[in-house]
Formats: sequence, structure tokens, C-alpha cells
Amino acid sequence: MTRRLLIAGNWKMHGTSGALAFFADPGINRTYAGIDRLICPPATLLRAATEAASATGVMIGGQDCHAQAGGAHTGDVSAEMLADAGASHVIVGHSERRADHGERDATVKAKAEAALRAGLTPIVCVGESRADREAGREFDVVGEQLAGSWPDGGTGDTVVIAYEPVWAIGTGLTASIGDIDAMHAFIREARGGDQSLRILYGGSVKPANSGDILGRPEVDGALIGGASLTAESFAAICLAAA
Ligand code: G3H
Repeated sequence: MTRRLLIAGNWKMHGTSGALAFFADPGINRTYAGIDRLICPPATLLRAATEAASATGVMIGGQDCHAQAGGAHTGDVSAEMLADAGASHVIVGHSERRADHGERDATVKAKAEAALRAGLTPIVCVGESRADREAGREFDVVGEQLAGSWPDGGTGDTVVIAYEPVWAIGTGLTASIGDIDAMHAFIREARGGDQSLRILYGGSVKPANSGDILGRPEVDGALIGGASLTAESFAAICLAAA
């Protein structure tokens, strides 16, 4: 089965309105064969990004959502609100949310289920810490996160997994091709060999290493932080993948 690559940019807590010039760049205003593109800007830019991206074919996503559709949750944003602002996807369980906000698997699962109810595709993040890997526990940790975070009712067509080894995020370190192959195969096997499930890799993906990583048969795209902040590097990664 041929799965379309998903090249997803996570702008994290970067960008004010000037960042929307990204969508006017010629490298963004073109198609890339066999590739879906997604940018997840900060919540403050969602509506404007949806409008700026409308002619480019780039989809827009949120970086997190609350598990409930509405209520007294100061500072939070629901999946319905993201969808109303034009989002098609939402990242849940990113390691920065797990670390900074103490999110556990049960919370991530509830958020992913909320995303599905709102008609969004959740991108569920999993990944081991450096200590886990050094202790040889990476498969145990990722297997546990996957089992605990997978939304009830989700399928390979409605959920995306992002494997992001925590030690590779923003560090310039990337997992070896062998380690990526092994973990992606493990994740697919844990999901019953579902051939429709897209499994992204994230962690210091750059134009220079993206061709090798995205060329692997078990890698169905990338979740990109720093290198998604400029149109030039995001487009270069899309070009390497096409
Ligand atoms: O969501 C994206 C990941 O955390 C990867 O970030 O490409 O800056 O390492 P990075």
C-alpha cells in the first residue's frame, strides 16, 4: 500500500502576524507530488493562517486541544474551536506538553478522542527519553505510550502517529536510520500491521537529512519544528521528499 507522505511543521511558540509571509513564498505556492503538507502555527495565528494558506494547498493544524468541547478552562482551546478556525489536524501528546504540563497517556487519549469528535485528525506523539534509550527501554516506553494514548474508535485512516525521540528534538541529533526503521516497524506491528496508518518521524529533521529519512519505506512523513519556521527550509524538505 502506498501511503502519501505528510510533511508537518510545528511552529511551537514562534510567530506573530509577520510569520504569515511564509505562505506567500514560491516554494510553498506549488504542489509536491505525493505529499500532503501541514503547518501548525500558534493558536493566535490559526484563522489568519487558514486564510493565508487557502490557495497553497497547505493544511492548517493546532498544536494541542482540550479534551472537552467547552467549559471553564481558562487559556485552553477545544478541538471544535480549532476546527472552526479552519484546522484539519491537531497535535496531541507532544513531549513538550507531556513535560511542561504533566500530560499523561490518559489525557492524550482523551484529547485525541476529542479531536476525532470534532472531525480533526489527531497526530499522536510518542517517543522515549535519552535515559529510556540508554536503559534499553525505548520499545517498552513507546509501546506503553501508544497503547495508552490511542483514541477509542480511531483507525489508521483517522489517526496519525509521530515518533519523536525526546533526545532528538531541537538538539541537532537525529535517530539513526536503523533505529527509525526499527521503531516505525514496531509501532506498525503494535497497531496490528495496519497499512493505512501514517507514522511520522520527528527530531531535528532538516533539509540535509530529510531525503534519507523520508526515503525509508516505514517513514510516512515528518513532524518538523525548527526547520519548518522558514519557507525556504520547509520547501527544501518537501522537495527532498517528492
Ligand atoms: O514537533 C516537532 C518536533 O518537536 C521536532 O522539533 O525539528 O526542532 O527537532 P525539531
